[in-house]
Amino acid sequence: MLLKTKAPWMESESAVTDPALYASRRQFIGLGAAAAVGASLPWKAAKATSLADQAPKESRFSPGSVTDSTWSVGDEALTPYADVTSYNNFYEFGTGKGDPVVMAQGFKTRPWQVQVDGACAKPGTLDIEQVLSMPLEERIYRLRCVEAWSMVVPWVGVSLRALLERFEPLGSAKYVRFETLYDPDQMPGQRRAVLDWPYVEGLRLDEAYHPLTIMAVGLYGAVLPNQNGAPLRLVVPWKYGFKSIKSIARITFSEEMPKTSWALAGPSEYGFFANVNPGVDHPRWSQAKERRIGDFFRRETLMFNGYGEAVADLYKGMDLAKFY
Ligand code: MTE
Repeated sequence: MLLKTKAPWMESESAVTDPALYASRRQFIGLGAAAAVGASLPWKAAKATSLADQAPKESRFSPGSVTDSTWSVGDEALTPYADVTSYNNFYEFGTGKGDPVVMAQGFKTRPWQVQVDGACAKPGTLDIEQVLSMPLEERIYRLRCVEAWSMVVPWVGVSLRALLERFEPLGSAKYVRFETLYDPDQMPGQRRAVLDWPYVEGLRLDEAYHPLTIMAVGLYGAVLPNQNGAPLRLVVPWKYGFKSIKSIARITFSEEMPKTSWALAGPSEYGFFANVNPGVDHPRWSQAKERRIGDFFRRETLMFNGYGEAVADLYKGMDLAKFY
């Protein structure tokens, strides 16, 4: 991101294009399955499990353990599993898009505990096994990187709100801070001063509690591959991808807005809110369009990545034409 001297889409992305891999479109199921949020909204419930066979058999969740998605992206095709898992940003394992799939292979994700602390009544630890025992749901979301490429990913995750509420945040808690594991022995990228490690991200508590926000533990009906942020990573679909922090080891409730890695590294280029906004350009490139991985032509970027109807209220009173 910050390190780039040319617009990222000028780099070769041809390696990831294989339209033949685009399997059949999802079958839509009735709105009946749509729970709380989805029900009255235009996003139809969709089923991606028909594509679950793209993920390796041995890593798939057992049949019936993941509820079908209550969110979809209309008739936009899912990005093939092979692309979602080989074209990554995970600087702890190298800055090249193809580095994480190679360099993260031996990364140890079990046992895994997340330390939870700060402004909450019940600080403690969260074991990955506890997260996996929560109700798992598939969520088909767009992922829009600040570098102007995008994907559609069928995530498997849990409600972030349900996960956070276990620790009883205090009324004074206004933000949540997330930290990636710091382990330069396992994460070779952390031996280089690319960022001020560990990678840190944050959300306002109402953003973290929004029904769209999930803690992902899988994709394509299978356990999250290391390069995608195993064993658990955030997914906040209306924000640029860098907010969706991977391999989380610590969560802290706070009264102050957390200082986040990219905002610290490039304050004039990356903000705290980082909501997808085609009207506010990155200082070095336009954000009006994006390249969907696998597509030849660029497409228009949607305000809030297409989730405006669900999230715009969170930003009432903020000047959306301004860089945040
Ligand atoms: N989290 C950590 N810890 N380190 C990273 O380098 N990259 C971010 C985000 N989360 C990153 C991270 C960026 S820039 C993007 S676009 C997404 O992860 C990419 O997620 P994906 O590789 O699963 O597509």
